[in-house]
Formats: sequence, structure tokens, C-alpha cells
Amino acid sequence: MNNNAPRTVLRGQVLSFTDDPFIVDSSTAYHHISDGIVFLQDGLIEAVGNAAELSPQITDADVVHDHADKLIMAGFVDTHVHYSQLGVIGSYGTQLIEWLNTYTFPEEGKFRDMDYARTCAKAYVDQCLINGISTASIYCTVHEQSVDALFEATDAINMRMLAGKVLMDRHAPDFLMDTPDLAYEQSTALIERWHEKGRSLYSITPRFAPTSTEQQLEVVSALMREYPTTWMQTHTSENKAEMAWVTELFPDCPDYIGVYEKYDMLGPKTVLGHAIHLSDREWAVLSESNTALSHCPTSNLFIGSGFFDFTAAQAKTPPVRVGLGTDVGGGSSFSMFHTMKAAYEVAQVHGNNLDAFQAFYMATLGGAKSLGLGDRIGNLKPGLEADLVVIDLQSTPLIRYRMQTVETLHEALFAQMTLADDRAIDATYINGKCYRNAEPVD
Ligand code: GUN
Ligand code: ZN
Repeated sequence: MNNNAPRTVLRGQVLSFTDDPFIVDSSTAYHHISDGIVFLQDGLIEAVGNAAELSPQITDADVVHDHADKLIMAGFVDTHVHYSQLGVIGSYGTQLIEWLNTYTFPEEGKFRDMDYARTCAKAYVDQCLINGISTASIYCTVHEQSVDALFEATDAINMRMLAGKVLMDRHAPDFLMDTPDLAYEQSTALIERWHEKGRSLYSITPRFAPTSTEQQLEVVSALMREYPTTWMQTHTSENKAEMAWVTELFPDCPDYIGVYEKYDMLGPKTVLGHAIHLSDREWAVLSESNTALSHCPTSNLFIGSGFFDFTAAQAKTPPVRVGLGTDVGGGSSFSMFHTMKAAYEVAQVHGNNLDAFQAFYMATLGGAKSLGLGDRIGNLKPGLEADLVVIDLQSTPLIRYRMQTVETLHEALFAQMTLADDRAIDATYINGKCYRNAEPVD
């Protein structure tokens, strides 16, 4: 490390996680400093501690950002999102299959045009910055250039992002289909071009079992073997009609997870979106294979898919890793506050509580761990990458009013996840660089 390079120094309230609040009593799983300092250097977190102890170490060369009483924590991690669906977020009146056919597929068709893809990628990156999202696992479209456009935009500001070309060779419009051969050739070219370039990571991305032939799923399996350092993402068990369709299409498989099991697609670098309607057998297979899930509650409510049960994931030995996903455009918001609130509401439907420490953990370190990146991002700890969010705890008149009666940190965080939105994001730091309203700040 070059100790002469100027450091960025953040001052404010600081929240980090010391443990998993789903495993230990959540009130013992975090560390909160009411007046803290975070040193950033060369894209990494260098030190975190009390202002009283660390402020003597600030030098004239350091750039100090005083965030006063705002809350500094790790940037949010969105474990499942479709950047290409920005143009159809908030579309009326359909559930999954009709929603795909009516809104999503026509919109994704537009990404054959590189200019359209670039414009959308820029708008997507802006939404991440505006909402405090520093890492996401992103579905592009079937077009190779949709991945180039996305990674060009995220690499330009050095974001830790995972993404991949969607693979579909059946049950989709002609203009959105590839073939097993094209899936292989284009995924390979994209992996060579983008995987581990800067902070970009490639995720092999078959859309879901109904839109890939068995030959294409074999290609996915081959790619996973050939490129073991890449990720794999797809959807599962989101919607009852989808599940009945999978039973028809794969009569030799015991269930939906059985399809991905058959093609060797499960494992520690696999992230499955939704997983709402699972059998005991499927939960056991996910746990044994250490496959991660992305819980996308605003989407599950918005397109009427159902209620994910995180306690079932926790009950397994080992527990199934779960992160939060916005799933825009099936999801109705880029806000991780909205996503946490919806996760709380979905848990309530099951008679469970998701406390604020658990929700913020899922939105940061839990999400990072579900992506296998917990040793690089998701927390405020020396050596981790310098991706942070700064939250204004007084961002609207209602929140200010509510905060007057708040007595504990838990209450304060719970009020935020219930009431806040992008107005509460004071700043987002990517690779140590500060952004406000998606604009870089010195
Ligand atoms: N299942 C297959 N494709 C999609 C998609 O684009 N969004 C959602 N929510 N579910 C899917
Ligand atoms: Zn999705």
C-alpha cells in the first residue's frame, strides 16, 4: 500500500456486523459507534474506529468527509436484478408468464441496439448510486452487446458487479432466442472479455428451466466446469403456473430443483432467484449443495408470486444462504429500504419477524455471503473493499417526526426500513469514491 497516497476519511455514526444475526442473538451481532471514523485508501477500507481514537491519525493530506450524525455502513448488495427491465418497472395487471410475454420480452428485444443498451446501462448505474447499491448480480438480455454495455458502465467507475448474458433457446420470441452453440460461444467470449477484469465478475445466466432446452442446460453445465471461477444464476419456483410447466417439460425430474440438479448446476457459486414454493427434498438438496437463494419480496408481491419463507432456509443444516434482491422490473423498487420492508411484511404473513439487524444484514453482509463475496465486500472492516453507503436518518418530515420517539438503534433502523427511500441516501462510495445523486463528489 502506498502510504503517501491521500486517504479519504469519513466521519459519522458507523455500523458494522460482528456476527450473523440469524445465528446469534441479533443484539450481539453488530458494532455501532456513535461518533466514528472510517479510513479509505486505494479502494480498500484501511481502518474503522472511534473518532476520539482515530482522529489524531488524520493528516493534512487526507480528504475528510464529515457526515455528521448520518449512518455509515457497507453498501447495499442486490443479489438479483434485471437491468434491462428498467423500462418496464411498474407494469400493470399480470403475473409471471403473461408479464414476461406482455412487457418483458418486447422490452428486452430492444437491447439488440447497442445505443439503447448503453443508455439503459447508464440509467441503471445511476439508480444503483442513488439507492446505495454498490454490488448487484445482474441479468442482461440474450444479446451479447447488452453485457458489454452493462460492464462498460460499471467498469468505468470500478463497481464490484456480477452479470451475464441471458440464455434462452425455446419458448421465447424469435428475436430473443439463441441456440446451445451460440450460448456457448457468446458466454465464452464474454467470460474472456469481462470476468475478473477490474471488479467485474461473470455469472452464467440461463433465464430459467422453461426457456432452455436440455442441450442448452448441458452447455451451462459445461461452461460451469470449464470456468469454475465464474458464477451461475437462474430462477426457480417463483410461480405456480411456471412450476406446472416445468413438471410438464421435465417429466423425468422429481421437481424444479431436480432439473438444476440433473445438469449439475447447483453449488456454492449458484444463486437461485425466488425459490418460494419448495418441497422438503428441494430444501435438503439446496442445503447439501450449498446453493444460495435470492429473496425478492417486492417482486413476489408485485407480480403475485407468493411468500418466501426465510425461516425454512435457516432451519436447514447447514442453513441455506439467502440475500435480498430487488428483481427490477418484476420488483417494484430499487430501494433496499423498500425491499427490507417487503421482506418484513412477507415474514409477517408466515407469522415470523425479521428484525432490523437481520434485514440490514441481509441487505449487506448476508447478500455478500450469498454471492460468496463476504471476504471482499458487505461490511466495514479493514481490508474489505471500500464500497459504503451513508444514510440520512432524518430524510423526510415523517421520518424526522418518528425519530423523535425512537429510543434504540434497532428502533431507528426499523423506522428507516419501514419509511425511508432514496432520499435517505446521503452518499454512496464505490471503490473509495464518493457519489451524491449519482454525481462524483471530491
Ligand atoms: N422468470 C424467468 N424470467 C424472469 C424474469 O425476468 N423476472 C422474474 N421475476 N422471473 C422470471
Ligand atoms: Zn428475476
